[in-house]
Amino acid sequence: MHLWRLSLFLVLGLALGAACLAVNRDLTSSLEGRSAWKLLGCYIDNVSGRALPHGEAVPGGTNAMTNELCIETCLQAGFSIAGTEYAGECWCGNAVVDGGGLAPDGSVGCNMKCKGNHAETCGGPNRLDVYQLVSPTSPTPSQTITSSSTQPASTSSPVQPTASAGTGKRGLAYSTGNPEGDAIFANFFTSFKKITWAYDWGYPAHGLDPSFEFVPMLWGLPSGPDPSWTAAVQTPGTKYILGFNEPDLTYSGSSNIIPAKAAAGYQEYIEPFSGSAKVGMPNVLWNNVGSSSGGDYDTAVWTQYFVGNCTSCHFDFMGIHYYQDCDPADGQSGAAWFQGNVTNAYETYKLPVWITEFQCYGTDAQQVAFLQEVLPWLDSQSYVQRYAYFGAFPDFLMNANGTGLSEIGVAYATT
Ligand SMILES: *[C@@H]1O[C@H](CO)[C@@H](O)[C@H](O)[C@H]1NC(C)=O
Ligand SMILES: *[C@@H]1O[C@H](CO)[C@@H](O)[C@H](O)[C@H]1NC(C)=O
Ligand SMILES: *[C@@H]1O[C@H](CO)[C@@H](O)[C@H](O)[C@H]1NC(C)=O
Ligand SMILES: *[C@@H]1O[C@H](CO)[C@@H](O)[C@H](O)[C@H]1NC(C)=O
Repeated sequence: MHLWRLSLFLVLGLALGAACLAVNRDLTSSLEGRSAWKLLGCYIDNVSGRALPHGEAVPGGTNAMTNELCIETCLQAGFSIAGTEYAGECWCGNAVVDGGGLAPDGSVGCNMKCKGNHAETCGGPNRLDVYQLVSPTSPTPSQTITSSSTQPASTSSPVQPTASAGTGKRGLAYSTGNPEGDAIFANFFTSFKKITWAYDWGYPAHGLDPSFEFVPMLWGLPSGPDPSWTAAVQTPGTKYILGFNEPDLTYSGSSNIIPAKAAAGYQEYIEPFSGSAKVGMPNVLWNNVGSSSGGDYDTAVWTQYFVGNCTSCHFDFMGIHYYQDCDPADGQSGAAWFQGNVTNAYETYKLPVWITEFQCYGTDAQQVAFLQEVLPWLDSQSYVQRYAYFGAFPDFLMNANGTGLSEIGVAYATT
């Protein structure tokens, strides 16, 4: 199945009675949002000259290994880079050394399931899944943007940028999971005028081309007042602020906040800026059924509780996600399901709708056909304010090696 070759992605199945809603999530973005760790990719290791020199034991030992545990262990030990290898090894360092470059076969070599969580990969034989700490308060060299890294598209992408402007709705959800830790994946789309805005599940923009409007997001609840968040939302040109990322879900990559706490957090960290920017409700998986943070209820109910608790909150728009099959097996239309859910979200709150993540599960050709059907529809619905297909990083809108747009990326940029 298409999804399972994406070994760096978490796949979570939620049983829905007879049906099954498969929710795949980008581990990169979840780790980014929670603790500012970026997935750099699958790296070569070399037993005679380790790419990350410090082997560390994690609590619980080899059999407990997960990327999160290794990252936590490296952080505690004072390192800024963590890598998992051979399903159960954790390696730390402050730079990837000894020629341990990105694996030429992409993520193919990093295909061993973590001993402590079979839904994640922990490298492979002589291969490391490498994560880097990128703290907004202590910038790393990865945030230094070179001019060459911001003009990548023309040589590697055979696609001609389209001059025709779009509706101003189409955007990018981009990962900074590249060796520079910057917005290079989003910047590949700079000359495609139908794409006008971008977000990275957090802040700051990490070198996003200034032709895009950057939209900051508060991914989850901060541990306290955060000056870097205040600075991000007060950056001149900030017109919109995105609320929490999937607080309605409980899997390891969601922000998982019960409605009452999410409402209190919204009041404390987002509401104060509602005068200077348009503020959005949390970004929830609208088509999720039966399993939410705080209870066995649908996301629609989670949202109802959130709004019920957020009595003095101001909402300028709502944010939703949608993941489902492109061509459901029972002959129903994936595009119709998507459109039905977007319409239903609007009818529920009568607010402008931002679809900040959406993807249909299927082959490249099925996804292209889906986009060709739903993009004109999204552009013509007055209540759809913004949308972003998942996502600007390798194997999705980018090709597998991150050197140009994928077939899906081309369809998204030009349709
Ligand atoms: C492995 O490391 C050794 C020692 O640093 C080096 O001589 C050798 O070229 C490296 N091999 C690869 C494949 O990088
Ligand atoms: C507030 O949220 C809690 C769950 O966190 C829920 O039980 C309660 O019904 C909500 N209140 C309102 C008025 O919706
Ligand atoms: C929303 O999507 C689900 C698939 O996850 C589908 O079963 C349902 O019919 C859709 N809702 C509407 C109102 O179209
Ligand atoms: C990257 O992948 C594309 C196909 O997706 C291929 O045409 C290109 O040669 C690859 N580039 C490198 C440097 O591997």
